[in-house]
Amino acid sequence: MRDEPMRRRRPRSNTKHQPARSGRLTESERARLTRLREDDSTGSAAPGGADRYSTWDTGERGPRPYPDWLITELAAVDYDLGVLKTGKEADVHLLRRALPDGSRSCLLAAKRYRSDEHRQFHRDEGYLEGRRMRRSRETRAIEHRTSFGRNLIAEQWAVAEFAALSRLWTIGAPVPYPVQRNGTELLLEFLDDGAHTRAIGGTGHDAGELVAAPRLAQLRPGENGLRDLWDQAVAALEFLAGEGLAHGDLSAYNVLVRDGRLMLIDLPQVVDVVANPGGTGFLDRDVRTLAGWFTARGLDIDVSEVAGHLRKLAGLR
Ligand SMILES: Nc1ncnc2c1ncn2[C@@H]1O[C@H](COP(=O)(O)OP(=O)(O)O)[C@@H](O)[C@H]1O
Ligand SMILES: [Mg+2]
Repeated sequence: MRDEPMRRRRPRSNTKHQPARSGRLTESERARLTRLREDDSTGSAAPGGADRYSTWDTGERGPRPYPDWLITELAAVDYDLGVLKTGKEADVHLLRRALPDGSRSCLLAAKRYRSDEHRQFHRDEGYLEGRRMRRSRETRAIEHRTSFGRNLIAEQWAVAEFAALSRLWTIGAPVPYPVQRNGTELLLEFLDDGAHTRAIGGTGHDAGELVAAPRLAQLRPGENGLRDLWDQAVAALEFLAGEGLAHGDLSAYNVLVRDGRLMLIDLPQVVDVVANPGGTGFLDRDVRTLAGWFTARGLDIDVSEVAGHLRKLAGLR
């Protein structure tokens, strides 16, 4: 009886240093499966000329309660309405998720992190330095930028952005509702340009005149508008600081304004300002960069005071 556990333990320690063939896939196997999955999700099987079935039953879902505008029926289909923006790090598409009978639908922004070799994520280096990962097949794949490694990096950014948005949305911060994450794809509430898009939105399957909310950088508000938007920006930063977070890449390009309401987007590099030794610096930089846009347009802001206030909220000195 006593010997038995010993005998059992031994094979286990022997296999420890061998690749667990049954649990892991070789890179080419994984690439093949990814291709199959992609074929599957964009396959021609979806009815009515749709691009795929709703992916609601796969991947990670956003926080509850699900917003009432969201289509959660599994019979729904997704139409790709075109590209909102292509970037070096991610492409953002506009999707319509609709019931097959067309009776209800919702618009989603699909942010797809790129993993191809042309991708230049300027934040990868810091990410790799900041994390002490077990020296594993994954670390090596990332270091050597194999296609498997590049995909892992892209997926990590999607995971981080989805987690940050979920956390912030749950406490009522002004961010788009994070609907889902599947691999390197995030589905987000589409921030439209307000009444115009809603009036013509209908249920068509063509992007037509559907327009995304403008970036703050595109706006030229008057004095009152400027003050109001800055107050909203500070309120948004208070939500982040209250969670001990800094955006990490805040600028007038990562702030959208819908119907006069300011929304923060693009949060994959969100920083835990307490755990990160450079946390204070990230928080200050966020405030200074955004405040700079407002002061350049004539608003009088005491940047140090705001920065100090946010540091205190975040529990920093
Ligand atoms: N939820 C959204 N609703 C509407 N437009 C969006 C949304 N998310 C992103 N976009 C559009 O896509 C652009 C790029 O998105 P962003 O998250 O900033 O990614 P990146 O800057 O890394 O390419 C934004 O500037 C905006 O125009
Ligand atoms: Mg951006």
